[in-house]
Amino acid sequence: MSVQVICGDCRDVVNRLEDESVDLILTDPPYGSTKLIWDRWPVGWPASVRRVLKKTGSMWVFGTLKMFLDRAPEFAGWRPAQDVVWEKQNGSGFHADRFRRVHESAVQFYRDDAAWDQVYKLPQVTNDAIARTVRRRGRTIHLGDIEEMEYRTVDGGPRLMRSVIYVRSEHRRAVHATQKPLGIVDPLLLYSCPPAGVVLDCFAGSGTTGIAAARYGCSSILIEADQDMVLVMQRRLSQDQFQFEVPA
Ligand SMILES: C[S@@+](CC[C@H](N)C(=O)[O-])C[C@H]1O[C@@H](n2cnc3c(N)ncnc32)[C@H](O)[C@@H]1O
Repeated sequence: MSVQVICGDCRDVVNRLEDESVDLILTDPPYGSTKLIWDRWPVGWPASVRRVLKKTGSMWVFGTLKMFLDRAPEFAGWRPAQDVVWEKQNGSGFHADRFRRVHESAVQFYRDDAAWDQVYKLPQVTNDAIARTVRRRGRTIHLGDIEEMEYRTVDGGPRLMRSVIYVRSEHRRAVHATQKPLGIVDPLLLYSCPPAGVVLDCFAGSGTTGIAAARYGCSSILIEADQDMVLVMQRRLSQDQFQFEVPA
C-alpha cells in the first residue's frame, strides 16, 4: 500500500501514469461555483484521466446537478451509472431566492468502452432492515418466464445502503475550504475499489481520499495543483502514520 502525492495540474500529471493502471478515480473537482481562486473547472480533465482507468474501474465525481449539466460535453467517453446524495447539516453559498441548499451529489461514471457487468462493485449495506417477507417478480430472461420469488429480511439485518447519505460536514474542523468528510468518501471507495486497489484523486485538496484509501489498505495517487495545499495534505497524511512516499 502506498500514497503518492504529486503537485501539478492533473491534466499534465496524468500523462506520466500508465494506461489502465488505476482501479478507481474518486475526485472532487472545482465546481466553478464560488469566488475562491482555485475554483475554476479545468477544461478537459475528464478526458485526460480516462486513459489511466482500468475498464473494470469507475469514477466518482462530486458536484452539483448544475455543474454536471453545464459540463455535460466534458463527460464524452463516459457513461453515468448512478448518483449518491450527500445530505449535510448545513449549507454554503445560499441564494436568498432559492431553496436552502444542504446537499451535494456524487456521480459514478464508467468508460463507454466497458460493460457495466464487468465494472467492480461491492454493494454496501446497513444493518437496519426490518423483518418481513416480500414477494418479488423474478425473471428468467432467456425463456421470458416471469415468476414470483420470496425475499426475506431479518430485524437488524443487512439491507442495501440508501443513496441519500447523511453525514455532518467538516465545518469548523476542516483544513480545506471544501473538505469532504470521510463518512461520505468511505462508502464510495468501499463500493468501487477492489481490495488493495489503486485510487486516483486528481483534485486531492487536503487528501481525504488518500486517508480513506489507506484505512482500507488501498494505494492512492493524489494530485493537487496548489503547493500550499500539498503541504497541508502532507501534514494531514503523515498524522495518519501510514506509509507515505512523495516522488521527486
Ligand atoms: C474541491 S477541492 C478538493 C477538496 C478535497 N476533496 C478535500 O477533501 O480536501 C478541489 C481542489 O482541486 C485543486 N485544483 C484545481 N485545479 C486543479 C488542477 N488543474 N489540477 C489539480 N488540482 C487542481 C484545488 O486547488 C483544490 O484544492
